[in-house]
Amino acid sequence: MPHHDTPTVPERELALGLAAAAHAARVEAGLRRQIDAGGGFLSFERFMDYALYAPGLGYYSGGAQKLGKDGDFTTAPEVSRLFGACVAVQCAEVMASIAQPVVLEIGAGTGRLAVDVLTRLESLGALPARYVILESSADLRDRQRRLLEFCVPHLRPRVDWVDGPPADDFEGVIIANEVLDALPVARFRWSATMCEELGVTRAGGDWAYTARPAGPTLQALCDQWAAAYAWDDGYVSEYCPRLAAWTSSVTRALRRGTVLWLDYGLPRAHYYLPERHEGTLLCHFRQRAHGDPFLYPGLQDITAWVDFTALAESGDAAGFEIAGFATQALFLAGCGIDREMQHFAGGDPALFARLANEARQLLMPGEMGERFKAMAWCRGLSTELSGFSLQDLRHSL
Ligand SMILES: C[S@@+](CC[C@H](N)C(=O)[O-])C[C@H]1O[C@@H](n2cnc3c(N)ncnc32)[C@H](O)[C@@H]1O
Repeated sequence: MPHHDTPTVPERELALGLAAAAHAARVEAGLRRQIDAGGGFLSFERFMDYALYAPGLGYYSGGAQKLGKDGDFTTAPEVSRLFGACVAVQCAEVMASIAQPVVLEIGAGTGRLAVDVLTRLESLGALPARYVILESSADLRDRQRRLLEFCVPHLRPRVDWVDGPPADDFEGVIIANEVLDALPVARFRWSATMCEELGVTRAGGDWAYTARPAGPTLQALCDQWAAAYAWDDGYVSEYCPRLAAWTSSVTRALRRGTVLWLDYGLPRAHYYLPERHEGTLLCHFRQRAHGDPFLYPGLQDITAWVDFTALAESGDAAGFEIAGFATQALFLAGCGIDREMQHFAGGDPALFARLANEARQLLMPGEMGERFKAMAWCRGLSTELSGFSLQDLRHSL
């Protein structure tokens, strides 16, 4: 089966150094053991889980550089501080009615978003009592600490890291930018009336897909979606079985406030369109986006687009109101990205031109503006959210 129609990475760009090659070999050996233990079949969900999170080995548990120009991919906060400033504006609005607000950021990457949000909140006179980071990667936690100490040393005492979802209730805002796309997904193939779960095996020294009949939950979902979206034979896609449980666990302690999810994805009716017949997997290796999850497991990022209808259903089930859904472009516009540009440029035309160029990357449909969406969940709060004042796509969910 072809893996994907996104570009493959040219051979010359694949060469690994000695340490990386040794790491890749350890991950491969671990995956082989998992495949053997499963009698030659490792579900794609478990493959992705291992490749991203196996202790000491997975992409988000090992020591790869990951983000930034020397890493594998770039995110909106790395493109421009305008992104964090807009998120800060939205946080400030929510926190205005809360006495001791806390911001919880999930998956903070290099720490850039934390620095930008805290900096802008400080200038707005709206600092939270605490800024808590839930981060699964030990090396990224170190990187976040160093960046915060370097950029905002006076705010560093407000920042804490936690290993798991907060146990104590709090009021405030939860932010997660590009974290949901890293949750392991199941892959499936639809043929006639039958759904197969795709798994991974080794064939002649290479990784290969293999299949087995889907379990009753996956079969029932596919029966429903195949009929609704008119899939052809051989249709391949993904779904995220752990989305509801994971989002519920990381948001459970938020007694009053807003959860802001930002990520690439689509409402279900677009996610499962017949023409998207090879699914939505997206891998990143050395600034190349491609569709091959078997390229150096453990050394590359593997992601899938977010089904925002499933995310809204998860929010409902977790007792939140779905308070907004918009493209990233319209979310940032609603938060006043133009005002933020004026604020940072401070009348300097050269700086304004640079910021305008960064804003284009965040806003243009062909860049991050439309592929990325923002969704807000609210609990116990009646505040209108500026980020969702210009566009309401909830009808599409
Ligand atoms: C694609 S990066 C995005 C980083 C940052 N939010 C940004 O926008 O630049 C994903 C981040 O989520 C973290 N992460 C991935 N899975 C996680 C999980 N299950 N719990 C907490 N953090 C996670 C990664 O270590 C990384 O910091």
